[in-house]
Amino acid sequence: MNFHQVILLLLLIFLVDLSDRNVKANANYNATGYEDGTSKCNIYEGTWIYDKSSGPLYGTSSCPFLGLDCQKFGRPDKKYLHYRWKPTGCDIPSFNGQDFLTRFKGKKILFVGDSLSKNMWVSLSCMLHAAVHNVSYNFMPDKSLSTFTIPEYGISKFPEEWVPGGFDVVIFNTFHWWGHTGRAKTWSYFQVGDKVVKEMDRMEAFKIALTTWAKWVDQNIDPSKTRVFYQGVSPVHLNGSDWGEPGKSCLGETEPVEGSNYPHTNEGEDIVKSVIRGMAKPVSLLDVTTMTELRKDSHPSIYTGGGSKLNDCSHWCLPGLPDAWNQLLYTDLLGNV
Ligand SMILES: *[C@@H]1O[C@H](CO)[C@@H](O)[C@H](O)[C@H]1NC(C)=O
Ligand SMILES: *[C@@H]1O[C@H](CO)[C@@H](O)[C@H](O)[C@H]1NC(C)=O
Ligand SMILES: *[C@@H]1O[C@H](CO)[C@@H](O)[C@H](O)[C@H]1NC(C)=O
Repeated sequence: MNFHQVILLLLLIFLVDLSDRNVKANANYNATGYEDGTSKCNIYEGTWIYDKSSGPLYGTSSCPFLGLDCQKFGRPDKKYLHYRWKPTGCDIPSFNGQDFLTRFKGKKILFVGDSLSKNMWVSLSCMLHAAVHNVSYNFMPDKSLSTFTIPEYGISKFPEEWVPGGFDVVIFNTFHWWGHTGRAKTWSYFQVGDKVVKEMDRMEAFKIALTTWAKWVDQNIDPSKTRVFYQGVSPVHLNGSDWGEPGKSCLGETEPVEGSNYPHTNEGEDIVKSVIRGMAKPVSLLDVTTMTELRKDSHPSIYTGGGSKLNDCSHWCLPGLPDAWNQLLYTDLLGNV
């Protein structure tokens, strides 16, 4: 098995297909500069503001396909549902599902990656569903290709094969599988070129894999047809030393880290940035690592539905943090569609 195959085996593909959806646009973000792409603000730099009036855009009753609904699985606190992301240099538009659907009418958005891609995809599906919940939709979760569609007529069919260029927006992500060692080790061998090794530095392996991905994008994606994003590394909160509270994990955390800085450096994110900088084709980084690092309170911990022995400090409750990722994706797209 070569290196390419190892990567492809782990790809999960999630698709949002907005073919045939016809709704009216009612958003006007002209004033902030997103509409014409002139905003110079770094939307990924800022703080989390507690705002009781800003609630989640959907809930169990309005989103029929929630997986990690922490409230349903007994999470006792609710504060984490009411934090709003506020960039330091500007305001960002709230997510407007109707407007999103209008802009992307007939287009296909593809998430390619691991379970963190799934987290973001389900969040976006819920956000769009909440915007038009009286309309018919298809939600087809699957092992390899999952789809969420809002077809007005009939059912769309999707290719079994990954076809480069067949999508308007593609959002890639991989990182988590690269960090596992010891008992949680994901792979038995690594192959680089002709050389097979049993062990190798995980961040070095991640860099090689991401470089392989970058070459693939440079060779196969036509930027005039497909907008490419990379979903920034999503941090894990298993070791409280990372945020100055040794001995703790995400379990029991009910508030974000204050301020805009996180004390721990994310090695994966540095690699992502350096690989993307070296690419020939334009790739937009959803630079969500730091803002996400601050959200030690937004993981499911023991409220995953999988029993109290499992303490999940990797994924995110829904509704919850990935909704903010999608708000930033939306903000970025407003300036570029
Ligand atoms: C955008 O702003 C300009 C100047 O303020 C205004 O004339 C125009 O009507 C606005 N565009 C929209 C779509 O509202
Ligand atoms: C959905 O349908 C219900 C009942 O028909 C109606 O009261 C509600 O306003 C509709 N919601 C939307 C978002 O159209
Ligand atoms: C947590 O991180 C600290 C500092 O990097 C390290 O010394 C410690 O061994 C880690 N704890 C665990 C349980 O991995």
